[in-house]
Amino acid sequence: MGFKDKLKDALVGILTNEELSVLPRGFQTISDVVIIKLNSILLGKKNLIAEKYLELLPSIKSVYLNSGRVKGKFRTPEKIEYLVGVEDSVVKHKEHGVIYKFDFTKIMFSMGNLSERKFLATLVEDGETIVDMFAGIGYFSLPIAKHSKPKKIYSIELNPESFKFLNENIKLNHFKDIITPIKGDSKIEVTNLSKSGVKADRVIMGVFPAPKDFIEEALTLAKVEGTIYHYEGIVDKEKYLVLFDEFKEIAEKSDFRCNLLAKRFVKSYGPGLYHTVFDIKVYKK
Ligand SMILES: C[S@@+](CC[C@H](N)C(=O)[O-])C[C@H]1O[C@@H](n2cnc3c(N)ncnc32)[C@H](O)[C@@H]1O
Repeated sequence: MGFKDKLKDALVGILTNEELSVLPRGFQTISDVVIIKLNSILLGKKNLIAEKYLELLPSIKSVYLNSGRVKGKFRTPEKIEYLVGVEDSVVKHKEHGVIYKFDFTKIMFSMGNLSERKFLATLVEDGETIVDMFAGIGYFSLPIAKHSKPKKIYSIELNPESFKFLNENIKLNHFKDIITPIKGDSKIEVTNLSKSGVKADRVIMGVFPAPKDFIEEALTLAKVEGTIYHYEGIVDKEKYLVLFDEFKEIAEKSDFRCNLLAKRFVKSYGPGLYHTVFDIKVYKK
């Protein structure tokens, strides 16, 4: 019997037939916490329902309700509220051999990006210098440090809450020699890095909306022999090249040549829309 049927069985006699028919199909697990989303007609009974999750999932210590979106330039969850169990929203989530410590009510962690977090590390060659322009808690920097052999990763993050956990995660995972955390706006920090003589083999530009306004600064990190940029955004699947074209137009104006190496549709982001990553190799003309 699947989880939804078990949950339904446990709630027969407690919920009406209409309420039973809109019970969630799935749920998100982060460490030993379950985060559920509920149809609005179930909100009056949210704690009763959450108690059943605790009963049916013995390894889970608490249940939270997510009733918002991920918003703003810091990409923070709008509303994740405590329902039942142990009230502690700071978790140590383990994934691909990496520990991510963070407060999931204040910092996003998309399970839909799991494959991209894993895949990016496989592209990195030994000895690379990498700049992670929107590092968050280390979503990409940590798995790269764990599974590849970069020389140095500069991880830039503006949100003080995320930056605090980025630092903790670097220590927790023993990457102090590889990852240099930088607190600040990557528009400024990238320019500071290149002024101090840093050139990158790889630049990660992972934030929504696509960081078009940061391309010019990011290009100052380009090497003569070429640099790979991972440029993210949300695209209409039918017209996905629009995003690459916007990068290319800015790069060509600054006298760079672009070669599109690959693109990946990471996850669905609404009807017809996809979170997409472009791998673009850039050379000075
Ligand atoms: C949410 S992460 C996205 C990571 C990745 N796409 C993922 O989901 O695995 C983007 C991060 O960029 C940070 N950020 C936004 N604007 C920034 C800026 N101007 N400079 C540095 N960091 C910034 C946000 O605070 C956030 O932590």
